[in-house]
Amino acid sequence: MVQLTLPKNSQMRTGKTWPKPEGAKNLRKFQVYRWSPDDGENPRVDTYFVDMDTCGPMVLDALIKIKNEIDPTLTFRRSCREGICGSCAMNIDGINTLACIYGMDEIKGDVKIYPLPHMPVVKDLIPDLTHFYAQHASIHPWLETETPRPAKEWKQSIEDREKLDGLYECVMCACCSTACPSYWWNGDRYLGPAALLHAYRWIIDSRDEATGERLDDLEDPFKLYRCHTIMNCAKTCPKGLNPAKAIAEIKKTMVERAV
Ligand code: SF4
Ligand code: SF4
Ligand code: FES
Repeated sequence: MVQLTLPKNSQMRTGKTWPKPEGAKNLRKFQVYRWSPDDGENPRVDTYFVDMDTCGPMVLDALIKIKNEIDPTLTFRRSCREGICGSCAMNIDGINTLACIYGMDEIKGDVKIYPLPHMPVVKDLIPDLTHFYAQHASIHPWLETETPRPAKEWKQSIEDREKLDGLYECVMCACCSTACPSYWWNGDRYLGPAALLHAYRWIIDSRDEATGERLDDLEDPFKLYRCHTIMNCAKTCPKGLNPAKAIAEIKKTMVERAV
């Protein structure tokens, strides 16, 4: 997996060290990014100690334990706790990943937790994904057809359905896009690996009838062609997907269409 070096924030202030739980013999230290829009203060990194003898194995288990037992103001997103909803994406030990499926035994030393990099922060570990979702919506992530709707369902052969493997599993966690240097610098115009993986998912769907329009829309110096095959996206995806390959396939389809 790719290790991201987070930029040091010179404005970071000294964080709070919370008391150790009484009587605990198996403590682990957590350093967690904190920022609130409500107090006018700069960000800080707080230190917590978690009793590992009474904590589940995943990083999200520790965050929930901290929130329940130590500091109820700690704020983060989570829902499914099984890597399906994509909401607990954060930067753990320098890696963009899902806290609910990232085991603490994979981390040596203190556990350092930051929000996904290069995104505006709503509060603590919650990034503002408004622009990310708008880019996803811009590729029309739904079936587009012109022929009359069938009485029951749009049919697809087993072979055509298999072409969607490695694409449909995306949980829109944003780990890939926020690990992509091209997205960091041009995220206002470059769609980024997640939205482009979804674009490809619909381009190759045998039932979709808007392939030409989809490709025309991506024929743009920024939307697609800012990918320089750096591969951070594939290295960090917690679902094991390969957005870089999907982007390369879109580019190939563009070339094949032109000849
Ligand atoms: S491709 Fe992977 S990292 Fe990117 S949004 Fe989808 S699941 Fe998350
Ligand atoms: S391969 Fe493309 S999309 Fe993936 S990290 Fe590199 S530049 Fe970004
Ligand atoms: S809580 Fe749903 S993916 Fe982690």
